[in-house]
Amino acid sequence: MSQVYKLYINGQWIETSEKKDVLDKYSQEVYGSVFQAGEDDVNRAVESAQEAYRSKDLSPYERFKVLQRVSELLMERKEELANCITKEAGKPLKQARNEIDRSAQTFEIAAEEAKRIHGEGVPVEAAPGSENRMAFTIKVPVGVVGAISPFNFPLNLVAHKVAPALAAGNAVVLKPASTTPITALKLAEVFEEAGLPAGLFNVVVGSGSTVGEQMMKDDRINLFTFTGSAEVGLKLKQNTGLKKLILELGNNSPVIVDKEADIDQAAKNIAQKSFAFAGQVCISVQRIYVHDSIKEEFQGKLVEEVKQLKVGDPNDPDTDVGPMIAEKEAIRAEEWVNEAVKNGAEIICGGERNEAVMQPTILGNVKKDMKVVCDEVFAPIVSIISFTEIDACIDELNESPYGLQGGIFTKNLDTAFYAARKVQVGGLMINDASQYRVDLMPYGGIKDSGNGKEGPKYSIKEMTEERLIVLNLEN
Ligand code: SIN
Repeated sequence: MSQVYKLYINGQWIETSEKKDVLDKYSQEVYGSVFQAGEDDVNRAVESAQEAYRSKDLSPYERFKVLQRVSELLMERKEELANCITKEAGKPLKQARNEIDRSAQTFEIAAEEAKRIHGEGVPVEAAPGSENRMAFTIKVPVGVVGAISPFNFPLNLVAHKVAPALAAGNAVVLKPASTTPITALKLAEVFEEAGLPAGLFNVVVGSGSTVGEQMMKDDRINLFTFTGSAEVGLKLKQNTGLKKLILELGNNSPVIVDKEADIDQAAKNIAQKSFAFAGQVCISVQRIYVHDSIKEEFQGKLVEEVKQLKVGDPNDPDTDVGPMIAEKEAIRAEEWVNEAVKNGAEIICGGERNEAVMQPTILGNVKKDMKVVCDEVFAPIVSIISFTEIDACIDELNESPYGLQGGIFTKNLDTAFYAARKVQVGGLMINDASQYRVDLMPYGGIKDSGNGKEGPKYSIKEMTEERLIVLNLEN
């Protein structure tokens, strides 16, 4: 029998009038069901957060202790949480286990950062007429943080929103992705056990068009942190007036394989970093720009590497590529491949789909206006594009509206640093593919990939205000 999960509002487990099933994304059987938040529930969650923010003022050390305890408890529940992610997201078990390790680190880093939130001295006495004054800034929390998280990292992208928000002294209302809400509710159990005061963390489950829209319009929420599509990011921007926003949006990550690359290393690395979680990672490799002189050799090696990936059941600990989040998404990806082929692209390997499982696919002969190249594919599909001049290659890859992360493989330092200056992204990996992230680093894009940075230290900066304090020492 599948389990029923309740909402978590003001430290209470809440049943509502509506329940929805959450499917196992591989077997399509019901994995669990979750109560859905109505208008009153969302209202109560925001009210509780506001009240808790005002009345339950934890010291930085108390925040450190709670977040550190959450980190420990996540590791104690690692297998249970990893299995939950594998079921509700279809993420291969070894990648789900890695997500729990990373989430524990995200909480640990945020715990440490809670002790390092400080302002700075301001030398106002240097201004004529202010000789007898002294000033400094302090960092104060913004208040209530509205967190809206995606399906692809049901724990760690929740962690990246919630942990820094609490470390900074805020209260949180979280709306997890409606396809993967159970992991977030298990995180609420962890917070309860870790002793977080009621109201500081609330979880409301429902769709973007109900719960998300209501949160967007609630003036009591002071800052939104969102990961998802550029379309929804824009909607948030248009509907939240002058509020602060941290937006992690789409991407179609480029990787350059230069003529001076280590071809074996590049092929191995790119094969591993293009298809993890079926390409449903914002920094998955999508566009591979390969120097014409090494294209045949690189392509052959990449195909060999990709053929070794194990595709299928995400519960098998050896699986590399499991199902996509829904069959309709796999159908959409297959249609994009077919459309590209109709317009002259060639399938170098893959291309087939079995229900929600799409084979890792490499396309060649693509054109830059094909959806598989210029839109965010968010599926296990990469395109190989050849180039002869590095500057023309960079100009072309910069035509993308997105700019989250990219990569370049080259042994030539001049080329690497030329790319570092010219490629329009939030982060460039040298001798690595775009899909590199450890949880302490600044993570966030430019252009339509969003604004603001994740990584506890950087999110805390966004989630606090700098307040100036001036002392008049004249009398
Ligand atoms: C994302 O998909 O934006 C998150 C990538 C990661 O944390 O590895």
